Amino acid sequence: MGLCGILAVIAVTPIQARSDVLEELGCAGCHQLEPIPRAERTLARFAARKGPDLFYAGSKYRPEWLRSWLADPKPIRPAGIRPFELTSSSETGDVLAAAPAPHPTVPSNRIGSVVSALESRDWGSELLPNPAPAPAQVPRMLAELNFVKFKGCGSCHRTTASGPPLSGPDLMDGWSRLQPAFLAAYIANPQNWDPVAPMPGYALQPIEVGKLMEYLRLLSQEAR
Ligand code: HEC
Ligand code: HEC
Repeated sequence: MGLCGILAVIAVTPIQARSDVLEELGCAGCHQLEPIPRAERTLARFAARKGPDLFYAGSKYRPEWLRSWLADPKPIRPAGIRPFELTSSSETGDVLAAAPAPHPTVPSNRIGSVVSALESRDWGSELLPNPAPAPAQVPRMLAELNFVKFKGCGSCHRTTASGPPLSGPDLMDGWSRLQPAFLAAYIANPQNWDPVAPMPGYALQPIEVGKLMEYLRLLSQEAR
């Protein structure tokens, strides 16, 4: 396509026109790479997703985590992106009927440009508290009790790899995966990020958010 062709495409479709390494590598086949209007972010769309939305990847992930994960991806959602398809109920709880498909690996010579392309997708950056709130001081055992039982986060998020698969993303490495400001903003109000996010909005006070952040920080320090 000549320069005039490119300019014509940009003029007609300003958002979809971005053609970068993510398009080239086929990431768009499973991921939403450009923002879509709030009204179009329906439950039906959420349930049909083939991968998590990446149009706020630049506001969400730590770049150094992206670099290592894309080179050697490990499962984050133990039951996949559509848990209801891979799990079946039993008397002792949900069981995994099939393992989620492994994530495509990004070739090492493309990692740098893929991470830059993800970082440039910074929808929601205005939702991030600046500076990021610091984790609150709370002893390890109390922090765990708070996360698992008091706040009930443990019913959807695993904090050890040995537990049965749950519907939410694993959070053993949540601290090293997610930017602290995103952690705080998402925990405080998941529906700001996705109007149909299945995670309840708890309307937590900053100190409560800080305690949950501290638990994830402590977890990330433990060798597993
Ligand atoms: C066949 C579908 C598919 C393709 C193609 C694909 N992904 Fe994914 N991607 C997924 C799924 C499913 C997950 C969730 C994995 C999990 O939770 O274990 C995911 C997760 C991710 C994550 C972590 C996000 C998160 O919060 O879980 C990143 C970053 C990512 N993909 C980037 C990419 C990039 C960059 C490309 C293109 C090089 C790509 N993906 C291609 C399906 C795909
Ligand atoms: C009813 C189930 C449920 C409960 C309870 C729940 N979550 Fe979630 N949470 C989810 C799901 C599902 C997602 C992923 C949403 C998506 O894919 O867009 C998520 C996403 C997250 C994320 C972003 C991680 C990521 O990789 O996308 C964090 C951080 C998080 N939850 C923390 C918590 C904390 C802290 C609590 C307790 C206060 C909690 N969650 C309670 C279901 C839940």
